[in-house]
Amino acid sequence: MDLVVIGLGYVGLPLVREACRAGLKVGGLDLDARVVAGLKAGLSHVDDVSPAEVEDMLAAGFTPSREEPVLDGARTVVICVPTPLSADGGPDLTAVRKAAQTVARHLEPGTLVVLESTTYPGTTEEVVAPILEESGLTAGAEFHLAFSPERIDPGNPVYGVKNTPKIVGGMTPGCAQAAAGFYGKFVEHVVQAKGTREAEMAKLLENTYRHVNIALVNEMAVFCHELGIDLWDAIGCAATKPFGFQAFYPGPGVGGHCIPIDPNYLSYKVRSLGYPFRFVELAQEINDRMPRYVVERAQALLNREGRAMKNAKVLLLGVTYKADIADQRESPARPVARRLRKMGADLTFHDPHVEDWEVDGVAVPRARVLYTALAEADLVVVLTNHAEYDADTLTRHARLLFDTRGRTRMVDESAAERVELL
Ligand SMILES: NC(=O)c1ccc[n+]([C@@H]2O[C@H](COP(=O)([O-])OP(=O)(O)OC[C@H]3O[C@@H](n4cnc5c(N)ncnc54)[C@H](O)[C@@H]3O)[C@@H](O)[C@H]2O)c1
Repeated sequence: MDLVVIGLGYVGLPLVREACRAGLKVGGLDLDARVVAGLKAGLSHVDDVSPAEVEDMLAAGFTPSREEPVLDGARTVVICVPTPLSADGGPDLTAVRKAAQTVARHLEPGTLVVLESTTYPGTTEEVVAPILEESGLTAGAEFHLAFSPERIDPGNPVYGVKNTPKIVGGMTPGCAQAAAGFYGKFVEHVVQAKGTREAEMAKLLENTYRHVNIALVNEMAVFCHELGIDLWDAIGCAATKPFGFQAFYPGPGVGGHCIPIDPNYLSYKVRSLGYPFRFVELAQEINDRMPRYVVERAQALLNREGRAMKNAKVLLLGVTYKADIADQRESPARPVARRLRKMGADLTFHDPHVEDWEVDGVAVPRARVLYTALAEADLVVVLTNHAEYDADTLTRHARLLFDTRGRTRMVDESAAERVELL
């Protein structure tokens, strides 16, 4: 194999697709039997990879497997396994360690090993290198080792693996060159970092930047509401500045596998120095509070209409963590639903990308027809701005609407009475 990808999820599978398109012979290793069986049958479990593309990958020789021997003779191995948080909120590198142990058992001289999983600076050289060296081979001398952050933006129709610049940081200049040469086969622009730590840090900087700026507008949303200021309009105005400003928008909280998790990796590392990373911890606090705030606003809105939350028919629109994808990981819709349910709301949800949705093991009924669901609900709460939820449809059919995504920010006066923005 030219390449074996370990972990065939949101990050690993698009990488396999690009490598296959470039003519590389690609193997894949995943522990999950359903993932491997599905891929072998031409199915995709990842939003950005279609079943037809999986068929093309298989036709190009892609070999998904649960068995380690797929690694034998691999010239490059890329590790794309999950890096979640542990119970105490710190990094959980169990999957990275396990994957590195697996690679070590099959490592051969000259192989390039790349870690793509998001993690704290130092992981590649302090955690992964010693495990790989249990093979008896020396990192940087007998095999190449690098870190290359994945910058994938699920659902982004413009930027994917191929046209998003790829950062690589090698343990030695030779490792960096090997990694740049490998990615250069199917990525348009490769950027070499000074070392593995700089590459690891670059990814955390990008995600922390988003996390902090989202928290900034979320905090502003709370006081702008009380001051009677339309923050959406203010952001729109500020965004006309052609330099020095990037627009971020408020919402019901942060979700997905990166923003709510990765900055914790960095704050864990900083805490090891004996002091906190205050920006991240503050952003976490503000963003974590948003689901509760959304429920409070929803309750106030019903109250304005003389209704209690108890037994009110509440329709949640969009339960995925971002628009136009099916990924529900860390979605703020879940804490919102949990609170609403606790207050006695009669909940339903609508989401074109989700068939069944459970909160704490209890199913939330799914509304199938958007128009009727909108008209039947006492209160509609927009949580995700899926393309289907256009302002016209929402305002025409909903009796009372709380829009946490600014979908309806341009509605005319006639609808303004029934629509409230976050
Ligand atoms: N999803 C994103 O948008 C995104 C973007 C950038 C970076 N990342 C990072 O990339 C990494 C992977 O994330 P993902 O979203 O692709 O995860 P994922 O859960 O979609 O996929 C990971 C896959 O790895 C498999 N796996 C776990 N342990 C394994 C092991 N020891 N050996 C073989 N397979 C194993 C799992 O079965 C799963 O199929 C994480 O560090 C994440 O933070 C994710």
